[in-house]
Amino acid sequence: MDDKVIIFDTTLRDGEQVPGCQLNTIEKIEVAEVLEALGVDVIEAGFPISSPGDFKSVVEISKAITNPVICALTRAVKKDIEVAAEALQFAKRKRIHTGIGTSPFHIKYKIKTTPEEIIRRACDSVKYARKFVDDVEFYAEDAGRSDNEYLARVIEAVINAGATVVNIPDTTGYCMPEEYGAKIKYLVEHVPNINKAMISTHCHNDLGMATANTMMGVINGARQVEVTINGIGERAGNTSLEEIAMIIKSHHDLKLRTDINTKHIFSTSRLVSTLMSMPVQANKAIVGRNAFAHSSGIHQDGVLKNRENYEIIDPVEVGIRESSIILTARSGRAALNHRLELLGFNLGKEELDDVYHRFLLLADKKKEINDEDIRILTGEVFQGEKSLKLELLQVTCGKSAIPVATVGLKVNGEVHTSTASGNGPIDAAFTAVKHLISKTVHLEEFLIQAITRGSDDLGKVHVQVGHGDKIYYGFGTNTDIITASVEAFIDAISKIK
Ligand code: KIV
Ligand code: ZN
Repeated sequence: MDDKVIIFDTTLRDGEQVPGCQLNTIEKIEVAEVLEALGVDVIEAGFPISSPGDFKSVVEISKAITNPVICALTRAVKKDIEVAAEALQFAKRKRIHTGIGTSPFHIKYKIKTTPEEIIRRACDSVKYARKFVDDVEFYAEDAGRSDNEYLARVIEAVINAGATVVNIPDTTGYCMPEEYGAKIKYLVEHVPNINKAMISTHCHNDLGMATANTMMGVINGARQVEVTINGIGERAGNTSLEEIAMIIKSHHDLKLRTDINTKHIFSTSRLVSTLMSMPVQANKAIVGRNAFAHSSGIHQDGVLKNRENYEIIDPVEVGIRESSIILTARSGRAALNHRLELLGFNLGKEELDDVYHRFLLLADKKKEINDEDIRILTGEVFQGEKSLKLELLQVTCGKSAIPVATVGLKVNGEVHTSTASGNGPIDAAFTAVKHLISKTVHLEEFLIQAITRGSDDLGKVHVQVGHGDKIYYGFGTNTDIITASVEAFIDAISKIK
């Protein structure tokens, strides 16, 4: 059996410390519930003494969550520990995370005391926390820049005082991977009672080495990793959960496992990004927009022949439907044809040659060719007779009005009408369309863009509609955004075979 690595998520504590990322209690509960579904083992829910809002969030998360351990942060200060214990009162499984700085910088310039006094305060706080909970994690702040021999003495003392987990943070993100790995190894080999506690990593990304350092910690004996969704956190952030989960899942040679349900990774990433207003960089490993996008012709051809030619992870494993092929001037016929098929076009060789020729001319002028461009390039000639056509659209909406839409749809030459209400005019119109068709469809994605800038300009709508296990794409352009939306919806539905 592979060794389990405990996933300790600190998105709601270290991640939430980022300026502009603050969440209210309801949003924190939403994130905590998603983290539980993702399969994290420990949720660090906050730093209760820091603010009434943090206190309340720890209380409410403790009530809402069943399986993961709920952890609350404190300094090595009695009052902090008392407040954390109170905030955790409803948690089914609880942990207090207390600690103090152990590096020469922190001892001399921050805490302004002596190394011996640090050990005394560390042990006192662990003992005090153990009066309230059975599970106490101790962090040696700035362990990354702490002397290993001294760190080993601190760790031995806090384990004797009752610490169940010992956290070795590289608080400033300074360590090199070998150095951090050697630090963990040193503790494994030189702390006589180390088998009475679990070693935890907590790495920051100031030099872009948080993930590498965390993995070196695990390889050398740590069995808990402190991570955040999308790697958010103080300054350059923390180790990202998704990277560690997928490294462990992909490298069977490590003989490690986590309980992360990796298929929830992408949706969790997007929820955290949206709620915290922190966009995910396009090239971010695992969850970036480009993580499974192929743009060079050679790569596109390779991926279409066999995904594994250029992908080490199946995007489905992290909850992304499929890899994407970005169409540019470097794309080949195979990539264009693949997209055409997704859009519902099945072209013969000559037609494809013709469209490809026009595609290259356009791609020389435009960076990226989108689905709407392709549709225009192929022209109505290949679309055949449309079996569905919007003949009438009338909507009533506005402040205090119930949105109602009447849709007239020509289905195989005959016009049928339907009226429906909804939570907005577009929702009402889509519901009316659904009443007029025989297929069961659901909206997967809906995107409105203004093509230019003025209020009288064209709006472009892109929809993805699900039917069975397939997705159909539709487009609409109109100066009236509701008409564009309904046309896009009908366009997608008309492609269902
Ligand atoms: O980076 C750090 O040292 C921390 C501790 C409070 C665990 O976040
Ligand atoms: Zn930290």
